[in-house]
Amino acid sequence: MSKKIKIGALISGGGTNLQAIIDSCESGKIDGEMIFVGSDNPEARGLQRAKKHTISTFVVDYKKVVQLYKNESDETQPPEDFNLDEIFSKQNLFTNDRDIKKTTQYFVTRAIAEAELLDKIKTYPVDLLVLAGFMRNLTPYFIDRFNINPNHPRIMNIHPALLPAFPGVDGYGDTYKYGAKVGGCTVHFIDYGEDSGPIIGQKAFSIAPNDTIETIKEKGLKLEWELYPECIQLYAQGCLETMKMSYTLESGQAYTRTIVKIN
Ligand code: GAR
Repeated sequence: MSKKIKIGALISGGGTNLQAIIDSCESGKIDGEMIFVGSDNPEARGLQRAKKHTISTFVVDYKKVVQLYKNESDETQPPEDFNLDEIFSKQNLFTNDRDIKKTTQYFVTRAIAEAELLDKIKTYPVDLLVLAGFMRNLTPYFIDRFNINPNHPRIMNIHPALLPAFPGVDGYGDTYKYGAKVGGCTVHFIDYGEDSGPIIGQKAFSIAPNDTIETIKEKGLKLEWELYPECIQLYAQGCLETMKMSYTLESGQAYTRTIVKIN
């Protein structure tokens, strides 16, 4: 039997994925233990789910951070080790033609919130961080400080679409509106982009002509509750290896991508 890993989770809402992970830890489907649940949203229902299982919780109120920053409050200074140029050079969330003031405000406020998150998280001996309906992108500021070894990523996310199709905040909605005939969910490691990191696992379902956005969400969530615990268990068993693959495109351009190999 593998050793039990210590798992932390970040959530924003209802927490049905969180529940599936907690239940899988308790039933032994995951060789792991959930040791904390954090949220950007003080109202997240998932926080109550964690409390029912006597799991520690905390909140970093992102909305409040942004508001204080806009009000030019002294409480909102970027962390001392924050380097905007470095973040700009690494980030893959925005293109260069976006309003620089807006992008700067985004990364400064995120770094303030993420420094608070890191501060809370450092009190726990966590092996793996799972984003379970956490509706905020993590920036390089957080990622580099949590993923101490870049060759061993340890932040996972679940996304409600078959990536790389339909990244963003409404995976099932976008799948439906596009008229796709297959939908699905994806678990991946986080990188500097939005839903662009190396894929660990995917599950798919058929979309019938009479399906609605509601039935698509229902089908998808059911698969999410199976897929996420399965992927976390692969991590717990040490089966996930990341590899850099390099190709030359027909145009002659070099293309490098990190992929996950399941051993
Ligand atoms: C899930 O469908 C998850 O895939 C999605 O939010 C929902 C959370 O449900 N996540 C994202 O869209 C992340 N970008 P839950 O709170 O009941 O687990």
